[in-house]
Parts: sequence; C-alpha cells; structure tokens
Amino acid sequence: MPKKKEKIFIFDTTLRDGEQAPGASLTSIQKLEIAYQLERLGVDVIEAGFPVASPDDFKAVSSVSAQIKKSSVCGLARCTKKDIEAAAKALKKAKKPRIHIFLATSGIHLKYKFKKAEEEILALTKKYTRLARKHCDDIEFSPEDATRSSKDFLYRVIEAAISCGAKTINIPDTVGYSYPQEITSLISDIKNNVSNINKAIISIHCHDDLGMATANSLAALSAGAKQAHCTINGIGERAGNASLEEVVMAIKTRKDVFSGFKLGINSKEISRSSRLVSNLTGFTIAPNKSIVGRNAFAHEAGIHQDAVLKKRSTYEIMDPKDVGLDKSQLVLGKHSGRHALAKRLKKLGFRFDKKKNDLLFKKFKNLADKKKEIFDDDLIALAEEETKPRKQAYKLVSVGFSTGTDISPQASIKIKHKRKVLQAKAYGDGPVDSCYKAIDKITGLKIKLLNYKLDAITRGKDAQGRAKVEVEIKGKLIVGRGASTDILEASVKAYLDAVNRIV
Ligand code: KIV
Ligand code: ZN
Repeated sequence: MPKKKEKIFIFDTTLRDGEQAPGASLTSIQKLEIAYQLERLGVDVIEAGFPVASPDDFKAVSSVSAQIKKSSVCGLARCTKKDIEAAAKALKKAKKPRIHIFLATSGIHLKYKFKKAEEEILALTKKYTRLARKHCDDIEFSPEDATRSSKDFLYRVIEAAISCGAKTINIPDTVGYSYPQEITSLISDIKNNVSNINKAIISIHCHDDLGMATANSLAALSAGAKQAHCTINGIGERAGNASLEEVVMAIKTRKDVFSGFKLGINSKEISRSSRLVSNLTGFTIAPNKSIVGRNAFAHEAGIHQDAVLKKRSTYEIMDPKDVGLDKSQLVLGKHSGRHALAKRLKKLGFRFDKKKNDLLFKKFKNLADKKKEIFDDDLIALAEEETKPRKQAYKLVSVGFSTGTDISPQASIKIKHKRKVLQAKAYGDGPVDSCYKAIDKITGLKIKLLNYKLDAITRGKDAQGRAKVEVEIKGKLIVGRGASTDILEASVKAYLDAVNRIV
C-alpha cells in the first residue's frame, strides 16, 4: 500500500518578519490586503504582526483576525506578560488564533543580551508558555538563535515548552548561519533527544544571510519538521527569510524527492501574491529571482527558445501556468464598467467597500483616458493609493516646472495642509530635486534623500511611472511610493507619501 502523505504546514511571516526588512513598513490596511491574498494562496498560518510593537501592528493583527477565517492567524510575543496579553487581545476575534512566543537560547544571547543563566531562561520558558497557554490553545514556541545554542540546553528548553503546553516548536536559524547538513542533524537530534517531542510538531525558520534559507528549510522538512516559516519574495530581516515560492515550488517540482509531502498551497496564486507584496512594500523583485523574477521563465538564447518550442521541458522545469503566469495580463480598457473593475480588484486581492470602489472607478476612467490599455499592475497602483494612511497631512494640489538649456530648473508646488493651500518655489539640480526642495520649504522638515528610483509599471509609451524614495526623517528610514502617468507627479507623490508616513 502506498505510504500516506504527510501534510507540510506553511507558516507565512511576510507581515511580521517580512515587514522587519528595513524600509518595508506596511499600514494595517495594506497588511489586510496581503492577508486576504495569503488566505487565497492557501497558507496554513498567517503571522500578522507583533502586537505589542506599535498601535498599528496591534491594529493589523486585530483586523486580520477579524477577517481571515481559513488560515490560522498568529501574533508574535516575547516572553513577557505585556507582550503575551497584547497578542491575546489582538487575536480575540480570530477563528483560529495562535500565539507565537520566543526566547533566545544561545550562549551569546544569554551572556550579552539577557545577562541571564540557563536556569533562568528555563524558568522563563515555563512561566510564559503557561501564561500564553492560558490565553490561547495554540501556542508556538521559538528558542531564538536555536542553531547557535548548546544542543543539550536546547533539548531542555524545548521539553519544558512542550510540557507547559506548546504545540509547535519552531527552530529559528536566526542569523542564517547554518548549512543544510547541520540542519538535518539538528532536527534528527531534537527528535531523538527530546522525550516529549511527539506531543508537538517541529517547525523551521530560516534566514538567508548565506543564501541557504530555502535549502535549509527543505533539509529540515526532509529530516522530519512539519512546518516551514516563509515569506513572499523572501523579504525579511537583513537578507530576508526562506522564500515561500521557492520552498513550495521545490516541493511541487521535485515530487521524486518530496514524494511523501502534501501542501495546502494553490501555487497558481504565487505570482499574484508576489506582485502584491512587491507593490505594497515597494521592494522590487530582481529580474533573476527564482520563480517570480521577470526572467524566471524567459529564454534568451536562440538554441533554448527553439528547444522550448519543440518541447517545453527541455529547458523549463516548471510550467509558468503553475505559478499563475498566463500570457495575457491585459485586463480592462476605456469601455469597461464599474462591475468589471470591482470584480478584477477583488481578484487581485483587494476588498473595498462601495464608496472606495466608486472612487477607484473614477480614477480608473481618468487613467483610461490617458492610457489605452490597463494592466493588473496599473490597477494595483491605483488601489495601493487607497491603502495608504487615511489621514494625509500633506496633499499635492499641483506641481509646475520650468527648465531649459540656459535656465536653472525651478519647481513650483502647491500643497494642501490643514485646509490651507501652501505654495513654494525652489531651484534645484533637476526637476525632481527642485520639487523636493520646494516641498522641504513647505514642510520645514529636515529630509535626507537616500535613494530614488523610477520604474515603468507596465510596458508601452503610455505606461504609468512608479517612483520610490527612501528618505531619512527624524532618524528614521522611510519608504514612500507614488504612481502617475506623469513621472514628475509620481516622484512628488512618493516624496509626500514618505512625509505623510512620518507626520
Ligand atoms: O529569526 C528569528 O529568530 C525570529 C524569531 C522571532 C522566530 O524571527
Ligand atoms: Zn526571523
């Protein structure tokens, strides 16, 4: 009789560890949009945030909890009363809540971060796992920096967490230090040395500092872990986390190796999830990124193209359709109606009320007047505007600009602030620089521009431009984004978006 397949749980942490990527902050509304898409993708657990970290993170976890029904919704907490209570409160409305608590176990963290002895860590593990368990049935415990911890101590901590009610033990390779063979041995050693390990499932959480997050996650699953922590596009703290699309497609593509696994993921939603996360975080995807990069299924060499036409599998190990890439992405045009737009937005993962859909329809018609063909990415850019913080302290009224070969570039900007229209003019090194200088005059803020990028959202001469800025305001790194068919307007919107995020 064929062996029964084992379910592998996908725990998505795009909204928590993913959002920890420097500059990737998402509003609670944007987090909710991503959560809807993650649910459609079929992830088993959505880690929606770290509720104690900020009021907006708390709000994000609460609103995701209230809306998501199929996936479990998880909130992160340190081993403290305040964190655990905040997580429990934020998860109150969740149909399937999970609290994820973590406590570092490596010698280096104990000595320098906590200045605590092993016995104290053990006592904290017991105390706070019990407390979390009082608030929630489903507790996941992570011994942070597990892969650099003494194994004997790690076994004791895991045993204690399970005996106090943890149902999942997550093993973080917090600093992305391990290589696959080490992970294989660690998971096998945990299975062989923790007496009550059969009462919990083992999970893996890998970072990509040495580019091994996917390989390490797969090694852990092969050794008996049943859950993998992943993020869309691999975004996350520093070099990022194991990328969901890579872990999932490796399992699906190499059925010969992973024959005993089954997944609840609908891989056809991968492409859409990737684009949504990239658009909302402003993190562009490298063209050569596995699975979701623009070139992942492109064949440049003539020999390759010829062979693929004869037999796709000569050079393609996956069918692009399996990750949701179909050729035609042309969606709507000038004559499309309100209903078609609302339906398409819903398909893209956005859930807007009637008022917002009506507003977007107006914006869509304006865009369709300027642009013949409207693609999914154009709609995402429009919808993204609606997911920005509701209260915009500074709103663009108009931007004017003059330059020439023998005159200095000068911008004239009008901005609405507290019901007043403020105006400023400034000279600069170029159109964008002079606009930004004029905005600085109006806001009076000290803003350091660290990075500026302009991309075409779709192809064609009439494509919308999307500007992204990274700025430092009041010592904080902020990312701002803006889109328009006019690239100067897109650049100004991006800068104001960053200003509004801080204000
Ligand atoms: O990398 C890490 O150790 C984490 C923990 C909170 C699980 O993100
Ligand atoms: Zn992490």
